[in-house]
Amino acid sequence: MTTIKIGIIGGSGLDNPDILEGRTEKFVETPFGKPSDALLIGKIKDVDCVLLARHGRSHKINPTSVNYRANICALKMEGCTHCIVTTACGSLQEGIHPGDIVFLDQFIDRTQKRTQTFFDCSETGMKGVCHIPMHTPFCDDSVQILINSAKAIGLNHHPTGTMLTIEGPRFSSKAESVLWHQWGAHCVNMSTVPEVVLAKEAGLSYAAIALVTDYDSWHESKEPVNVENVLKTFKQNAKQACDLILHAIPKFAQKDWTDIVKANKDLVEGSIMPGTK
Ligand code: ADE
Repeated sequence: MTTIKIGIIGGSGLDNPDILEGRTEKFVETPFGKPSDALLIGKIKDVDCVLLARHGRSHKINPTSVNYRANICALKMEGCTHCIVTTACGSLQEGIHPGDIVFLDQFIDRTQKRTQTFFDCSETGMKGVCHIPMHTPFCDDSVQILINSAKAIGLNHHPTGTMLTIEGPRFSSKAESVLWHQWGAHCVNMSTVPEVVLAKEAGLSYAAIALVTDYDSWHESKEPVNVENVLKTFKQNAKQACDLILHAIPKFAQKDWTDIVKANKDLVEGSIMPGTK
């Protein structure tokens, strides 16, 4: 059985190191620069885990400036096989309420300024041109474990959902938000892209726990998103994500991931254009 190691990227406020047993702090450098903060390495219920605060522990890095490549690369270099992330988001549909959790299965990319590949043929980057398939961005098996845990501990959740990622740091205008709503996206945030794309290129099984904090700006009768309502709802619901992760992690360790780890690796290798390495 392949030994797994789970990288956990915490969004705003959810970078709670107390869940790690035997914690050590490690500042690392990757070929793509420094990750957002130290890697916090330890065990959760006897499973090796690595925690990383996406925006830094003091939340000083804005979504455009997060070094997503360094973050994912650091987890890969540390030996992670999986990446579970939390992300605050706005709801774009009536039936999805602040306080709910959405397990993502798709995304729509509205970012503009982010590098989405490790394969940039630069001095330090990976050699070759990689056209990674994005039909199934998230790891179905990982998501299913999280869904089962959410059911087991009674969390309000949605088993599928399309995340629309905007560049930020500003929130969407009402006209934009109405458009995202009409497109049929379920929620909106500022971080899923390129994180999920880079995780796929790195061969990591990636799953996202999206915590709904607001109704963005499309809804006629709800307060438009602002920092205050995001933080307030987030504080009220962050514990749910922690409980969910704590419940799910032992279930990850019970599964044999050998075939999936190999399939992740084969997918990347098969996506590099012949003759470009
Ligand atoms: N994060 C939390 N709520 C959001 C929203 N409405 N838009 C973008 N990112 C968010």
